[in-house]
Amino acid sequence: TLGGYADFMAKEIAEQPEAIERLLSGRLGEKGILLDELKMTEEELAAVDRIYLIACGTSYHVGLIARTLIQTWAKVPVICDYASEFNYEQDVLVTDHTLCVIITQSGETADTLAAARKMHGMGAKVFAVTNVLGSTAARESDGVLYVQAGPEVCVASTKAYTAQMVACALFALRLAQSHGVMSAEEVATHYQDLKAIPDAIREVISRSWQDKQAAAVFRSATSALFLGRGVNATTAYEGALKLKEVSYLHAEAYPAGEMKHGPIALLEPGFPVVAIVPADRVHDKTVSNIQEVNARGAVCVAVATDGDESVASLCEHVLWIPPVADELLVPIVAVVHLQILARYVARTRGCDVDKPRNLAKSVTVE
Ligand code: F6R
Repeated sequence: TLGGYADFMAKEIAEQPEAIERLLSGRLGEKGILLDELKMTEEELAAVDRIYLIACGTSYHVGLIARTLIQTWAKVPVICDYASEFNYEQDVLVTDHTLCVIITQSGETADTLAAARKMHGMGAKVFAVTNVLGSTAARESDGVLYVQAGPEVCVASTKAYTAQMVACALFALRLAQSHGVMSAEEVATHYQDLKAIPDAIREVISRSWQDKQAAAVFRSATSALFLGRGVNATTAYEGALKLKEVSYLHAEAYPAGEMKHGPIALLEPGFPVVAIVPADRVHDKTVSNIQEVNARGAVCVAVATDGDESVASLCEHVLWIPPVADELLVPIVAVVHLQILARYVARTRGCDVDKPRNLAKSVTVE
């Protein structure tokens, strides 16, 4: 039931802090990160020398973030692919110690299940990150990590996206531990950083009025461009996907530095651009892109970190996020503004946010 919310999208956005707290609770023991669900021995985990992350849609975006976390923290090479592409590829390179991780909220996405079967056929172990207990993905995999986000009713995925990212972060830490590339103190610090995420999301949700105001920019737009760098290029992809799905407004996303290689031709006075520009290593580079956007009279809506005057002075609207200790975890917080923004834009354009046209909650055909 809606329990006082106007729609399931609003309810599920609001449920994110608790979902993540549930997932994180009791995960740090004396020996480090506890993920017994993996059903892999310490030796098996330590031997993993390559990981394929396979998923569709929003879950694929989780995979892009997970790739960075695993490669940065555990130093294990990762390939991330769309299941619908992976299934027809002939260049899949499986070693004796390749692990396949499928990421699927519903656990029933046909392309993702087919990818898991393909990997099993090639001798790889398959591990599922899923939200649905007893789903086909859970039953057919060697190990399952349930994200425990609770039923997701709105067709557009919100809480499963952020919870799946956190699940993958736990997995990356567990792997780093077994590979001996991270000290117990470092693992504990990362775990504490993850523990701070729910409150940061609560803070973003309390600032929904910022998204409501910014939604006006998109009321009569016909297209929008999302830009971000590094891990937040993925936030841009996910923000554009959410906006398209629920508001039917055409949106595309690029790594910010790619704008000048083509998409900049789209810019004209009034054209809406959403820039994800938190306080991180690549901040100043993205600020230059915002200046290029402004120079063409386009309207910039930014997601930025509290107190960032350099962004505030350049943008029509700023969706503020509180500081996040580890810049690799910013996507889990920043995306919440884009979920809320997409919902408000959809509502101002008269769309049914929970049941967008042409879409089903799980895609059970290949
Ligand atoms: C977007 C969305 C879809 C799903 C995709 C995969 O909001 O919900 O893109 O993410 O269909 O679904 P799962 O994760 O159930 O495999």
